[in-house]
Amino acid sequence: MNNIGQVLSCAPGTIIVAVKNLETFEANKEKLQIGRYLQVAQGNSDFTIVTIQNVKGVALYNKHNELVWQFQIECQAVGTLVDNEKFERSSILLPVPTEPVYTAEKETLDKLFTGDSKYQFPLGKLSLNKDIDLPVDGDRFFSKHIAVVGSTGSGKSCTVAKILHDVVGIKDNKNQNLDEQNNSHIVIFDIHDEYSSAFTLIKDQSFTLNRLDIDTLSLPYWLMNSEELESMFIESNEQNSHNQVSQFKHAVVLNKQRHNPSIEEMTYDTPVYFSIEEVYNYIENMNREIIGRLDGEHKPKLKDGTLVEERKEFYFDQICDFVTPSQGKADKATNGPFNGEFNRFISRLETKLSDKRLRFLLDPKKQNGTEYKTEDFEEIMRQFLGYLNKANITLVDLSGIPFEVLSITVSLVSRLIFDFCFHYSKMQHANDSLNDVPVMIVCEEAHNYIPQKENAAYRSSRKSLERIAKEGRKYGLSLMVVSQRPSEVSETIFAQCNNFLALRLTNNADQVYVKKLFPDNSSGIADVLPNLAPGECVVVGDAVLLPAVIQMPLPSPEPKSQSVQVHQEWSELWREVTFADVISRWRNE
Ligand SMILES: Nc1ncnc2c1ncn2[C@@H]1O[C@H](COP(=O)(O)OP(=O)(O)OP(=O)(O)O)[C@@H](O)[C@H]1O
Ligand SMILES: [Mg+2]
Repeated sequence: MNNIGQVLSCAPGTIIVAVKNLETFEANKEKLQIGRYLQVAQGNSDFTIVTIQNVKGVALYNKHNELVWQFQIECQAVGTLVDNEKFERSSILLPVPTEPVYTAEKETLDKLFTGDSKYQFPLGKLSLNKDIDLPVDGDRFFSKHIAVVGSTGSGKSCTVAKILHDVVGIKDNKNQNLDEQNNSHIVIFDIHDEYSSAFTLIKDQSFTLNRLDIDTLSLPYWLMNSEELESMFIESNEQNSHNQVSQFKHAVVLNKQRHNPSIEEMTYDTPVYFSIEEVYNYIENMNREIIGRLDGEHKPKLKDGTLVEERKEFYFDQICDFVTPSQGKADKATNGPFNGEFNRFISRLETKLSDKRLRFLLDPKKQNGTEYKTEDFEEIMRQFLGYLNKANITLVDLSGIPFEVLSITVSLVSRLIFDFCFHYSKMQHANDSLNDVPVMIVCEEAHNYIPQKENAAYRSSRKSLERIAKEGRKYGLSLMVVSQRPSEVSETIFAQCNNFLALRLTNNADQVYVKKLFPDNSSGIADVLPNLAPGECVVVGDAVLLPAVIQMPLPSPEPKSQSVQVHQEWSELWREVTFADVISRWRNE
């Protein structure tokens, strides 16, 4: 072992090591940089492992007028290597002065970071020593939630793609699981359509990517729960919004019963078909309703004299013609309870129903051109979990989804997956087993739809994902939350993350925020955040033995980077643009 000096003093938090002499220091310079590790003897076969925090040199003249250097290294203890074999992070025995100190060689570092056989999922190489891998405990890493943060361009998307490549078995553009596909299930919310390219291999590699975009996503409105329906159709700040809610709810439940007579206990949230057109008719009829007031009537009355005994028999199929209100003795009739109340509500419903961009939600059609009905629920669930085409990765491309329904889309998809995992787990629990098809949802650019600030527009997506953050783990559903503005993402979500990958962070508010999220013993390592290279990240959490700075390898294929080579493009000759094509796409022609 390579002895470099002795312990000079020791206190909880700092151990000072005196280096033997200038020659020793010069010979080991590289191994004595800040962040590197030393081992301090602790009896015969145990070592206290310390990390270097500060190196100080003093040069003084001796009595022969020669310059004499003295070096002191300030360190912090991180754990104990027991019997020179097993690293224990929790038990720290502090050494006493005069104990000999050695540099930590590869053999020791391997023990520090590799741990036992549980640590088998490879992440990257230690930045300080590129020969050493940092594997993480895969079960701990993926069973709980993971945060990936870093400023724009720091390498988040590449990091996520690399991790997922290792999960599904993609390496160097090849599908390593060609013959035996594994049981991994990942759903990615991709806001800029970056990931398609990272999971598209040439045909003979037979890697199936389940890619859902606005044209292929089947997300019928009738799967929305009460909250999602209301955030879609009702303006909560309108004066009579409670009437809108109660009548809409009533109409939806009645209509669900109408189309699903076999279900006995129908609720507003039961995921079965109802017709939004019919509900629209119902509300429109409530808005026009006139009540006959002759003796024995007191029921809604149509022009032809028919009395409406049961609204649900009349109001769903068409817009009815009512009698005119009158005070006359022979034709006395007055406005119904909601007459004229719903004008704005109805015009909003009309606008939404005729909006072509919302067809994927409000009028989705099967391949044969028919509507999705209750019995298609299974197919819809299979679609989200990659079970239609047996795909490990399902990519929900949010780039074409209109802004105003982004939150609903994310909310609906993630809630359906949560509910599926919940019910599947409960079934498994009944047989004394756990969810054996665990799922991970990756939220790219999470600040866009799970913001920290209370914002009505994102209430539903925030609620669905916060619920997964709080309860998902128990049902085999975990999250990977990716953001360039961690301080703007819901705190509830980050507080539930057990492992962090922090890439370069330049914004001060974000650095401070991320530091606070790190576990106690690792806040020191956060000081390097502003200085990291692309793809270099700090890994902390319960899946690693020691917090470490690592360099992630680049994935291949890479996600499609959004960065344009501006100067290179500007240096080219003048380029013509077909404006008509752009405008046509814009108008969705
Ligand atoms: N591990 C890596 N090694 C070397 N270069 C990398 C690595 N990861 C990323 N890069 C470089 O950084 C560029 C940006 O990476 P990436 O798109 O992953 O960043 P990002 O953090 O997702 O950015 P944004 O916030 O804009 O989405 C890549 O095009 C690549 O050239
Ligand atoms: Mg990115």
